[in-house]
Amino acid sequence: MKHQNQTVGYNLTASKFQWDIAPGKTITAWGFNNQIPAPALKGKVGDTMVIRVKNDLEEPTTIHWHGLRIPSSMDGTGVVQEPIKPGETFEYRFQLPDAGTFWFHSHVNETVQMERGMYGALIVEDPAEQVITDAEKIFMIDDMKLDAKNRFTKPGWLFPRIKERHDGRQGNTLLINGKENPMINVHAGQRERWRFINSSSARYFYLYIGGKPFQIIGTDGGLLESPITVNKILLTPGERIDVIAGPFKEGENILIESLAYNRMTFLKSKRQAFATVQVGKERSSITNIPEKLRKIEPLAQQDAPVTRKIKFSVGPSLKNGMNFLINNKVHVDDKPVKAGELQIWEISNTSLMDHPFHLHGEFFQVIEENGKAPGYRAWKDTYNLIPGSTIKIAWMPDNRLGMWMYHCHILEHHEAGMMANFEVIDGSKDDNQHSHHVHRH
Ligand code: C2O
Ligand code: CU
Ligand code: CU
Repeated sequence: MKHQNQTVGYNLTASKFQWDIAPGKTITAWGFNNQIPAPALKGKVGDTMVIRVKNDLEEPTTIHWHGLRIPSSMDGTGVVQEPIKPGETFEYRFQLPDAGTFWFHSHVNETVQMERGMYGALIVEDPAEQVITDAEKIFMIDDMKLDAKNRFTKPGWLFPRIKERHDGRQGNTLLINGKENPMINVHAGQRERWRFINSSSARYFYLYIGGKPFQIIGTDGGLLESPITVNKILLTPGERIDVIAGPFKEGENILIESLAYNRMTFLKSKRQAFATVQVGKERSSITNIPEKLRKIEPLAQQDAPVTRKIKFSVGPSLKNGMNFLINNKVHVDDKPVKAGELQIWEISNTSLMDHPFHLHGEFFQVIEENGKAPGYRAWKDTYNLIPGSTIKIAWMPDNRLGMWMYHCHILEHHEAGMMANFEVIDGSKDDNQHSHHVHRH
């Protein structure tokens, strides 16, 4: 059966509101439609989504559609659109090119706006997909840094401020779908598809489901080639993963936890629980997970010649203690790329901490990490750079000309300079014709 392409309309209103993260624990949140996360937006491949965004905040905002291969003018960054001013409305409109687990978030003053709750999931389904599960859940991972009265703290003077800039903002209020310690109900004997999205400012979420094995079936850009069975997986800020969880036994109580992951921060990482899975009555299962999920054609071989080198590093700053650098500079204007010209980027991290590299509007394949080919092929838009590591990614700019960006998805690092804008230009024109120089973040 062929799916008839449809137009799906949504209204999102950004505002400040009171939100209960737990019974009796209320915060003053910023978000969409008075909830954290925003309502999940859903469509099918080929559908056109029209999202009217009204800004009822006291400051400007935009929305970035993380992972969606949409036109540059819809990307929601400061170089492609005027921020939506208080009281104004902007209409985002784009076709959904790929199935997968995506998300959206504000792309103005992110260290404040996203920390307070301005994000939501965007799920694109492919009616032809063969994966069948008994149920599906979306889990948006976040944390908030609150004081004893549940107010968002402001980083204090000097060391606390430098620490937050260095580590990224990480708090001890752990949230799944805007709630502290929620109960997740499942039926014994069933298997579910859980779509995890790490929407936190800086926290590395090292998923662990009571030690039970689960299958990874998808990453940022949709399905893998075949499922991979693991019992833990790291999800850095911005990344997504689709897993098949279960079957569990009736009466079981299982924690969804994050194991400790040392990303070389001042703050020591520890194992922490985010939610409890409560297993109810046994039910029959209709789950079908094919061994072959899809074919992912390789974009390039491991030894493909490098077309661009990018260095992530940290340097001293008189004003802020430290700067977060791309090729030794902050807030960079990088060279353009030509549509249709295969990109092989060598990205190195010479700093002593991890950085999740994110490319807007495109998927890439990691073809090498520290000299070795990765264990499996996947479409990614966010990939963790381990300290001292070098990766090679391949991606193909298509005809969506215009301004794009890449940056570290630890929001405080992005803000501190670890970002670059670049333009995708018409491949048939020569190099001198571009003149687009911008300096905004
Ligand atoms: Cu989700 Cu510019 O990022
Ligand atoms: Cu993005
Ligand atoms: Cu970083």
